[in-house]
Amino acid sequence: MKNTMEKDIQEVLYSEEQIQEMVERVGEEITRDYADKNLLLVSVLKGSVAFMADLMRAIRIPARIDFMSVSSYGSGTKTSGVVKIIKDLDINLEGYDIVIVEDILDSGKTLRYLIDLLRSRNPASVEICTLFDKPERREVDVYAKYKGCEIPDAFIVGYGLDYDEKYRNLPYVGILKPEVYGA
Ligand code: IMP
Ligand code: MG
Repeated sequence: MKNTMEKDIQEVLYSEEQIQEMVERVGEEITRDYADKNLLLVSVLKGSVAFMADLMRAIRIPARIDFMSVSSYGSGTKTSGVVKIIKDLDINLEGYDIVIVEDILDSGKTLRYLIDLLRSRNPASVEICTLFDKPERREVDVYAKYKGCEIPDAFIVGYGLDYDEKYRNLPYVGILKPEVYGA
């Protein structure tokens, strides 16, 4: 087996088991907080697919789901801050308690844009749920009520997170070897 992903990974940061523990904990928090609400989970494609699939099954109250796809006009490992909507939500948001489900909060520009956009459509409420947060990298003010964990400033892949659209299917989260970035 030559072309496996494992050979490109320098270090495993979070194992499948560790990720599942975080997902279960966040799922319990949302279950508790939204028991009497009208929960709509909004997954931001494509990075949050793995998290969304596991999180929605860790939530024990009836929830609706929808998907948005945004492009942040960035290449490589940086976001430009100019966010373009590739696929919008399908429904009118009035009356819904929205939780935006994201893979990672980095500069914060993507989520700042999304939360402002969704709030302008008059839902009952909007909160953010991110699996990973890199607080050191923040450039704009964004508050995530639900969070898997904070991580240091390193570029990670796996469990939905990509480098050059690859490694999303890695079941755990790791750091790539520097030579993979090519330079
Ligand atoms: P922000 O707008 O800078 O907060 O960027 C958020 C987006 O950048 C995420 O949804 C990811 O697509 C991408 N991103 C940020 N950090 C990483 C990382 O460490 N690995 C993979 N993608 C990342
Ligand atoms: Mg990405």
